Amino acid sequence: MATSEEQQGGSEKAILVGVGLRGERPLLSINDSLRELALLAKTAGIEVVGEVKQILPKINSATFVGSGKIEEVLELLEYTGAEVVLFDDELSPRHQRELEKRFGEEVKVLDRSALILDIFAQHAKTREGALQVELAQYEYRLPRLTRLWTHLARQAGGSSRGGISGVGVRGPGETQLEVDRREIQKKIDKLKQELELVRQHRSRYRARRQDTGIPVIALVGYTNAGKSTLLNKLTGADVYAADQLFATLDPTTRRIELPSGRSVLLTDTVGFIQKLPPTLIAAFRATLEEIREADVILHVVDTTHSNCQQHIEAVEDTLAEIDVHSVPKILVWNKLDALEEDVPVIEMGEYADIVAVSAYTGEGIDELLEVIEQTLTHGMRPVTLCLPHTRGDLVAHLYDEAHVMERSDTEDGVMLAVQLPQKLYERYKAFIVN
Ligand code: GTP
Repeated sequence: MATSEEQQGGSEKAILVGVGLRGERPLLSINDSLRELALLAKTAGIEVVGEVKQILPKINSATFVGSGKIEEVLELLEYTGAEVVLFDDELSPRHQRELEKRFGEEVKVLDRSALILDIFAQHAKTREGALQVELAQYEYRLPRLTRLWTHLARQAGGSSRGGISGVGVRGPGETQLEVDRREIQKKIDKLKQELELVRQHRSRYRARRQDTGIPVIALVGYTNAGKSTLLNKLTGADVYAADQLFATLDPTTRRIELPSGRSVLLTDTVGFIQKLPPTLIAAFRATLEEIREADVILHVVDTTHSNCQQHIEAVEDTLAEIDVHSVPKILVWNKLDALEEDVPVIEMGEYADIVAVSAYTGEGIDELLEVIEQTLTHGMRPVTLCLPHTRGDLVAHLYDEAHVMERSDTEDGVMLAVQLPQKLYERYKAFIVN
């Protein structure tokens, strides 16, 4: 959230606020989640000078936390001279308003979503990336349009494009706020139209690529897992990798050769994180579709991170949210060089294979290439099929050639959840329902 001016003249100071609900088991503990929030803050140029935690039976409908905690934050603000209060969870528009009232004019109230959106805005390099972030920012702001707008408007899309307040012409009886809302809605509609064109272009390009028969391998992973470093190692390319959250936003595609000499395309895209703002997932549809259409997914994990199991879960949750079901996945334990203990044990479950590598030293890379090759040739795709009742021959064929995990006979047909061998995919594609 720091403007470049503020970054030059010393960063903004923030108090973090983390809340847990009694009886609930979040993916990350409050402490771990706040540690991650502090890293996000650092990436955005904000210095963390204090934190406050609270376990509540339920979220306070007005101020999110209880009145005692508000007092505590006020004291900390005074003591540290901080000018930002940063909540680890997305605040509702009402929370935002109430908190702004309690903390006063001089203090900015932000939440994790606003922070992530801001980092994305700073890191988007291509037009597509910038359009997607801008759309997500406007969607996030529209219901929150209050005093905060004037603050955020200066930074919209990391540029001066968002300065709307005061620009629109008021209609009869319209307040400035209504004018702003109308202007933002117009912007949102326009961005959606532009993004639809991008999406169509991508989908045409993908269709052409599919015609050439070159398989696509998508790299996914929690932010900072080492996707860009792995892409560099595999391709000898020089993609920007940094010890920074969300260093890569825009899809980068490179061609590599597998041991057999077969060419594949490797695509690195945006990293995931727990509590990713829903507006961002929606806006990044064009980018995320690249993952859904891939032939194999490499799920890269920072094995040295104490929360690596939770990171896997967060990534899998996001993949499910964007409807990635039928692409075979390989789990890649990365940073083997820095791992002091054994690689964690995990159920093979939905993974076609599991490989441990170091994108730094190159250890395990040859095995990874072999595994990609194997998966492309013999891999299984988890799919749900709906076959007509009249096609008992196909059902029998699947029992012979695929691994049937679940069957239910419905009015529409025979529903089968199967692990489908790659070689049968084209034949059964038309019956896939997920
Ligand atoms: P996002 O852009 O946030 O999605 O990150 P990313 O997954 O692309 O990670 P990136 O490649 O930028 O790497 C993140 C950090 O991990 C960098 O500091 C890398 O140098 C480091 N890193 C990546 N691979 C390895 C590895 O094999 N070993 C070690 N020790 N560090 C690694």
